[in-house]
Amino acid sequence: RARVGVLISGRGSNMAALLYASRAADCPYEIAIVIANDPDAPGLALAAAEGVPTFAQSHKGLKRAEFDAIVDVRLRAAEVSHVALAGYMRLLSEGFVNGWAGRMINIHPSLLPRYKGLDTHQRALDAGDTVAGCSVHLVTAELDDGPVLGQTRVAIVPGDTAATLAARTLIAEHQLYPRVLAELVTRERNPDYLLGLVRKHALALPASE
Ligand code: GAR
Repeated sequence: RARVGVLISGRGSNMAALLYASRAADCPYEIAIVIANDPDAPGLALAAAEGVPTFAQSHKGLKRAEFDAIVDVRLRAAEVSHVALAGYMRLLSEGFVNGWAGRMINIHPSLLPRYKGLDTHQRALDAGDTVAGCSVHLVTAELDDGPVLGQTRVAIVPGDTAATLAARTLIAEHQLYPRVLAELVTRERNPDYLLGLVRKHALALPASE
C-alpha cells in the first residue's frame, strides 16, 4: 500500500476520514505519519490514540523553509510516497512544494477556482451562491491553485450560515478526500496518469521522477 503522510494544524477531522477509510482491506493507501505544526492540535492526539506515528513541531521562530525542511525529513524518514494536507494552515515553501510535486494534495472547502483562501463559506453566502462544495487538488506553489482532482457540490439552503454550510460541506469533504487519494495512488501505478497530469497542467516533477 502507498504510504501517506498527513499534515494538520487543528481538529483533524479530514485526517480521521483518511485514516478510517484506510482501514478497509481494499484501501490502496495507509497513513504512515501525521505531522502537526501545533503540538496542541486535537487531531494529533487522535492520531496517537489510533496508533499512528505522530510528529509535532511548532513553526514559531523558524523560517518557512527551515520549518518545511524539518517536516520533509520526517516525511522521508517515514518512507512516505504521498502527502495529504488536511486543514494544514501553513503556506509552503517552494522547495517543499517542488519536492512533492504531483504527490501532494490538499482539500479546500470551496468549488475551486472560486474562493481560494479563507472564509470560503461566508464568501459564498455573501455572493448569493446557491451551490457550494469542496475540492481536492494537487498542491503547487500558488495557494489553492493546483490542478483539481475531484470536487463535490453541496447545495446552499435557505437559512444557511457559514457554520451550517461548513458543517454540511465537511461531510462531503470526508467522503471526497479518501476517494481522491485512493484514486491518485492507484492511478499512479499507471505511468500514463502522471504524464497526463504533467502535460495537461505543465506540472514540474522532481528530478528523481
Ligand atoms: C476543513 O474544512 C478543510 O477543508 C479546511 O479546514 C478545515 C479543517 O478541518 N481547509 C482549508 O480551509 C485550507 N485552506 P479538519 O482539521 O477537521 O480537517
